[in-house]
Amino acid sequence: MYSRKNQNNVHNIKFAQLYTRIILQSIAVLIPIFVCTMFIMFLYNTFAYNMVKRSFEDNNMDNASIISNQEYDNNDISNQKYDNNDISNQKYDNNDDTNNQITDSRLLLLVNKSNKIPDDYDTLLHELQNGNYVAEIMYEDLKEMWFDGEEQNPGYSFNVCSGYRSYEKQEYLLNNKIQSGMDCGYSYEEAYNKAILEISPPGYSEHQTGLAVDIVSESYQILDETQELTPENKWLQEHCYEYGFILRYPKGKEDVTGYNYEAWHFRYVGRETAKEIHNMGITLEEYLNLQK
Ligand code: DAL
Ligand code: ZN
Repeated sequence: MYSRKNQNNVHNIKFAQLYTRIILQSIAVLIPIFVCTMFIMFLYNTFAYNMVKRSFEDNNMDNASIISNQEYDNNDISNQKYDNNDISNQKYDNNDDTNNQITDSRLLLLVNKSNKIPDDYDTLLHELQNGNYVAEIMYEDLKEMWFDGEEQNPGYSFNVCSGYRSYEKQEYLLNNKIQSGMDCGYSYEEAYNKAILEISPPGYSEHQTGLAVDIVSESYQILDETQELTPENKWLQEHCYEYGFILRYPKGKEDVTGYNYEAWHFRYVGRETAKEIHNMGITLEEYLNLQK
């Protein structure tokens, strides 16, 4: 009996030793595998992030040249002064997305065929790398939207083909459009009436506020309805409100906005307002009417 019990004890000890060895060996193997995996993931993330970031910075945005206290083109911008004081009342709270709201009523400035841009309107502009300008006030959100869109969707590539537009440029674009219509055989009046469904009369374009941007896909840069079929435009239409933008001239609202559907034209109104407008499925005109 005694010897059998002893034998059992020896057995148990051997088992215990075996289990301990197996556990220790497993740990010895697993820990390096885990550490290597984490290291590879870290390298991959850093590499992928930098690739996207570099391509984003190279191709697109920040020229890091904020225009302040100067006029960048005297011929072009009669009423614009680039003065840092202009945005002194604007507050950002980067820690809270819902509060990342600029408390500036100018974000809701209505510029349409019935509302000319005020003569004394001035704003601070930020130059993009492609030479276009946007309001400094929207720059960070534009950059974030652009960056997220390209980072979250490999292969996507955005191009801001139009931002701030001077009075003279608006005049030029409208005349050009009218001329094209007349070249196609329309009378001046017919060509004009057709043109102003797409191009605003000078002084009545919200592009002059610097708060409007035309964004197209790099792979399809034509401003026509087909733009909405590009993956980039689909993403923008779905997500732009998260960054403070609204699709300004939606399909089916032509009577309200006075313009044909423009899949590429986005207006910055700030995150909170953009979310409200998006959720209500309305235009800026309708939103502002509700506020009265
Ligand atoms: N295409 C828009 C309506 C503009 O000319 O401002
Ligand atoms: Zn536009």
